[in-house]
Amino acid sequence: MDYKKAISQPIFEIIGRTADELNLDTYVIGGFVRDYLLKRKIPKDIDVVAVGSGIELATQLASKLPKKPQVSVFKNFGTAMVKHDELELEFVGARKESYHRDSRKPVVEDGTLEEDQKRRDFTINALAISLNKKDFGTLLDPFNGLEDLENKLIRTPLDPDITYSDDPLRMMRAIRFATQLEFRIEASSLDAITRNKERIKIISKERIVEELHKIMLCPTPSKGFSLLHKTGLLDIIMPELTALQGIEEIEGQRHKDNFWHTLEVVDNISTETDDLWLRWAALLHDIGKAPTKRFHKKIGWTFHGHEFVGSKMVYKLFKRLRMPLNDKMKFVQKMVMMSSRPIILAEEHVTDSAVRRLVFDAGNNVEDLMTLCEADITTKNPKKQRRYKNNFKLVRQKIKEVEERDRIRNFQPPVSGEEIMDTFNLKPSKEIGIIKEAIKEAILEGEIPNEHDAAKNFMIKKGISLGLCPK
Ligand code: CTP
Repeated sequence: MDYKKAISQPIFEIIGRTADELNLDTYVIGGFVRDYLLKRKIPKDIDVVAVGSGIELATQLASKLPKKPQVSVFKNFGTAMVKHDELELEFVGARKESYHRDSRKPVVEDGTLEEDQKRRDFTINALAISLNKKDFGTLLDPFNGLEDLENKLIRTPLDPDITYSDDPLRMMRAIRFATQLEFRIEASSLDAITRNKERIKIISKERIVEELHKIMLCPTPSKGFSLLHKTGLLDIIMPELTALQGIEEIEGQRHKDNFWHTLEVVDNISTETDDLWLRWAALLHDIGKAPTKRFHKKIGWTFHGHEFVGSKMVYKLFKRLRMPLNDKMKFVQKMVMMSSRPIILAEEHVTDSAVRRLVFDAGNNVEDLMTLCEADITTKNPKKQRRYKNNFKLVRQKIKEVEERDRIRNFQPPVSGEEIMDTFNLKPSKEIGIIKEAIKEAILEGEIPNEHDAAKNFMIKKGISLGLCPK
C-alpha cells in the first residue's frame, strides 16, 4: 500500500526534495504516522528522521522556505526544530542509541533507519513513511506496528526490559497510550513494567506528572490508574491513593473500598467535565480517609475530619510531585475540603439557609462542587441512587433561586464598617466586627434579605442590644 495521502501537505514534498539534494534518506516517523493511521487528530509536532545529519537537513530546509524560519539547534542531542506555519518540525539523525526528545544523554552513534526504529518506545510509534523521491510514501514497518495498530496492542520493538530500561518513562507512556487509544498492553510488556517499576524513581517528577495529566484527560481515566496500580507504579508515585485500597471488616461491619470508589468517581466526573483540576479534585477527594479511618463499637467505621486532613495532603502531594502550588492547587484543596458538604444536604431536608451557607463558602466554585458531589454517587442501590440524584437536583434548583434572590455568591456586606461607625459614633473597635458578623449570619439564616435598608435596621437593633446608642 502507498501512504502518499498521509504526506500530501506540500511541506513533505519540500523536505523530501531537500533531503534528495543532500543525499539523505529521510522519513516522517512517530506520532504523526500513528495518529494519521488511527484517523486521530494529526499532531502539530512532526518528527522527521534522516539517515545522516538531521541538523543539516533542517538548516537547508529553512533556507528554502519562503519565511526563512529560524532553526533551533540542540547540538548535543543531534536535533533541530523548524517552525513552519502551525507546524513544529523536529529533525533528528537516525541513531543506534535510544531516542527520546527530553533525553539528557548526548547522541553518540549514528545508525540506520531500522536501528533507529528499534530503539523507539513502541512498534506503533516506530512506523516511518519515506519522503525521498525514489520511494515517496512507502511505509517502513520492520516491527509490525501496523498489525499492532489493527490489534490495538502496545508492544515494544525490542525485549521490553531493554526498551523500558532505556527510558523508564516509557512505562508511564505505555499506560497512557493504552488509556488514550484504548489499547491493550502486551502481557510480557506489562510484566516488564512490573519488574522495572522501581526505575521510575530516576525520572523527573515533571515528566511523570505530564503523563498523569494525559491519563487524567482521557475519557476513562480509571483504565490508566488500574494499570498503574496493577504494575505497582501507583504505589511509588502516589501511595496516598493506594492506601485507600481494601475493605476491612470488624464485628460484621464493613466499609467500602475507597480506592475503587475513587476511580469510579473520576470516571463519572469525566463524563461531565474536561477541567483537568476538577478531575484531580475527584481523584484526591477521599485521600484523607486512610489516615482518619477508625472503628467504633457503636457506630462502626468513621473517617472524621477526612476532608480537612485530605486538603492538607493535597498540598504535600502537589509539592512532592512538583505540581504548581498556585490557585489550581488551592482550588483542588477547596474542593476536597468541601467535598462532603452538598452530600449532607442531599441526605437531609434541603433548607434555604443550608444552601445559602454552601453558596457563601463555595463562592464561584459552587457548580464545580456540585459536579464533584454528583460524581461521588456510586451506590449500586437504585433506590438510594435515585434519591440522592433527585436531592441534588433540588439543591441545584435552590442554589439558583437563592442566588437570584440573595446574591450570596460573592458576598459583600450590605452595610459597611464606616456606616456602622458613623451610625453609632464609634472609633474602630471590636463591636464593628460583631455587628458585621451578626448581619452576615442573619442574611445566611434568612432572617433578613441581603439588602441595605433591612441590614441597616438590623444593625441598629443589634447595636442597641450591645449597649450602643445611634446618633
Ligand atoms: N519516543 C521514544 N521514547 C520516549 C519518547 C518518545 O521512543 N520516551 C519516540 C517515539 O517514537 C515517539 C517519538 O519519539 O513517537 C516522539 O515523541 P513524542 O512527541 O513525545 O510522542 P508522540 O508519539 O508524538 O505522542 P504524544 O505527542 O501523544 O506524546
